[in-house]
Amino acid sequence: MSEPGEVTIGKTKLGLIQGDITRQATDAIVNAANPSLMGGGGVDGAIHRVGGPAILEECRQIVSRIGRLDAGQAVMTSGGNLLAKHVIHTVGPVWRGGTAREAELLASAYRESLTLATEHKLESLSFPSISTGAYGYPLAEAAEIALSTVIAFLRDVPTSLAEVVFVLFDSRTFEAYGARLAQSAGNM
Ligand code: APR
Repeated sequence: MSEPGEVTIGKTKLGLIQGDITRQATDAIVNAANPSLMGGGGVDGAIHRVGGPAILEECRQIVSRIGRLDAGQAVMTSGGNLLAKHVIHTVGPVWRGGTAREAELLASAYRESLTLATEHKLESLSFPSISTGAYGYPLAEAAEIALSTVIAFLRDVPTSLAEVVFVLFDSRTFEAYGARLAQSAGNM
């Protein structure tokens, strides 16, 4: 029986909690990074602060290989001092009014993160609300894209993931995602 704010898709539990993603003990947590991978504020700042310098060093090595990380792409590092074993760094789109492929790039950030987690046979993954902070993506639209993309992936793609959790920092964000997930649960 699913808890409120939780649905089961295939063999994967999808849930929402309000909290701090740096405290999650899932196999990986997803970072809302920027193309430089050199850290920043928000969830990026928190992950580097708690995770420690090893994560930044691995990001430096990745950037030296691939240059910058394009929006919608994802890479993985260790979790450093975090409880999570890995960090999947993805870059969401900056909101520019909706005419610069923002919806497609946001969906790709979630899909590429799920694909990477599956390739590494991870069993649990935590997402923040990508792009709805400094990048200014309107919250209701972002929640719709985030949840529909994750639900479609879990429905259509064989995965090692048994648990995917959205870890939402403030109550406004938690409620926006909760409202959208309740709609999905109604349509399953
Ligand atoms: N745990 C979970 N969520 C968090 C945490 C945390 N510790 N800290 C912040 N958040 C939430 C924010 O409240 C927001 O809802 O993450 C969501 C995304 O906000 P940002 O971190 O600002 O990410 P984003 O909007 O994708 O902007 C990315 O900001 O920090 C820089 O380097 C980053 O340039 C990049 C940009």
